[in-house]
Amino acid sequence: MYDVYEIRKDFPMLNGVKMQGKPLVFLDNASTTFKPYEVIEAIERYYKFETSNSHRGDYDLCFNIDRQIDAARHEIATFINSHDDEIVFTSGSSMSLNLVAYGYAVKYLKSDDEILITQAEHASNVLPWFKVAEITGCKISYIPLTDDGRLTLDNVEKTITPKTKIIAVAHVSNVLGYIVDIKNIARIAHAHNAILICDGAQSVPHMKIDVQDLDCDFLAFSGHKMLGPTGIGVLYGKYHLLDMMDPLMSGGGMNAKFDMCGDVSYLNPPVRFEAGTINIEGIVGLAAAVRYLKKIGMENIQMHENEIRKYLIARLRDVANIKIYNENAEGGIVTFNIKGVFAQDEATYLNSRGIAIRSGQHCAKILIDFLGEVATCRASIYLYTTKEDCDALVDALKSGGDFLDAYFS
Ligand code: ALA
Repeated sequence: MYDVYEIRKDFPMLNGVKMQGKPLVFLDNASTTFKPYEVIEAIERYYKFETSNSHRGDYDLCFNIDRQIDAARHEIATFINSHDDEIVFTSGSSMSLNLVAYGYAVKYLKSDDEILITQAEHASNVLPWFKVAEITGCKISYIPLTDDGRLTLDNVEKTITPKTKIIAVAHVSNVLGYIVDIKNIARIAHAHNAILICDGAQSVPHMKIDVQDLDCDFLAFSGHKMLGPTGIGVLYGKYHLLDMMDPLMSGGGMNAKFDMCGDVSYLNPPVRFEAGTINIEGIVGLAAAVRYLKKIGMENIQMHENEIRKYLIARLRDVANIKIYNENAEGGIVTFNIKGVFAQDEATYLNSRGIAIRSGQHCAKILIDFLGEVATCRASIYLYTTKEDCDALVDALKSGGDFLDAYFS
């Protein structure tokens, strides 16, 4: 039985932390998430009792850390049903996507080729492709969205051409929260000899992911959005594709040998892409986060989020002058505006009530034209969000009008 109140006890940030002197109501989980004790303790244990470098020492502390890193890779691989050597540790989704852009796309795309993205992508799944276009001369095309902002298979079929070499899309939009049918987009991509790159920053933390079933070629995700530390993330890639790629960074730990003439041979993936001392505390922390998520169960987490989302939408419908942009989305992201109130003013007012949401463009700057707004408010939920959190938001929105008139007039 899913007991959200028991789960909340595992998170120090949910036990006594205040904002503006009020109990904290955290509804900005698409931005980052709180860490359970198990994650904090794993990091603390590494720093207090286990500190050493990895893959560089012939003493027990190093052997212990090497074993933990291998175990972490395995923990994460089983979490998304990949093989261990298909898990590359990066600093987060942005670096994962940049790694594919520079290591794969820059190497293999030509000026005649084309990359397909959508208007709903986060900056980290747009800007690396702009760079690839600048370097290779290839073209960026946009798969049209439906009127409510969804990506359909029909539109993928209509937009893909023999020149398409890469389709790069988010599994779940960080603004609209729709779940994209990655499995069938991968099928379409492969039928056209293209590859499918999936930005999983907003999906991997919230649902069961099976990369073999999805058949995506690459999947990027971030530790800090799934209860893990900041500065650690993952690039999953099919091994044969990783093996075709050049490293983005060179240095210690990723080469087999090099000589004075500049001849270098790299190690095999995944370590080929992990130059320098890796983020060891990040890796042990992320492994602890994955163990925690596995313990709760991803299906249970998704069910809980669905229930909370439905409750929040139902309650928000009662708020005067509200416009909800994604009432029917599947993910735990709810994007809205209050008519006549600038989104950032609304967020500032909510802050005064102890409520954290995100406002602005949410790093998806070309979606704003599509929505026809300069900015929106976004509430995003996670495994520890309660109906009381939703009530606090709705009550504050309902009583915000007069305050905002007085405050910002
Ligand atoms: N990508 C994060 C967000 O959507 C930062 O808020």
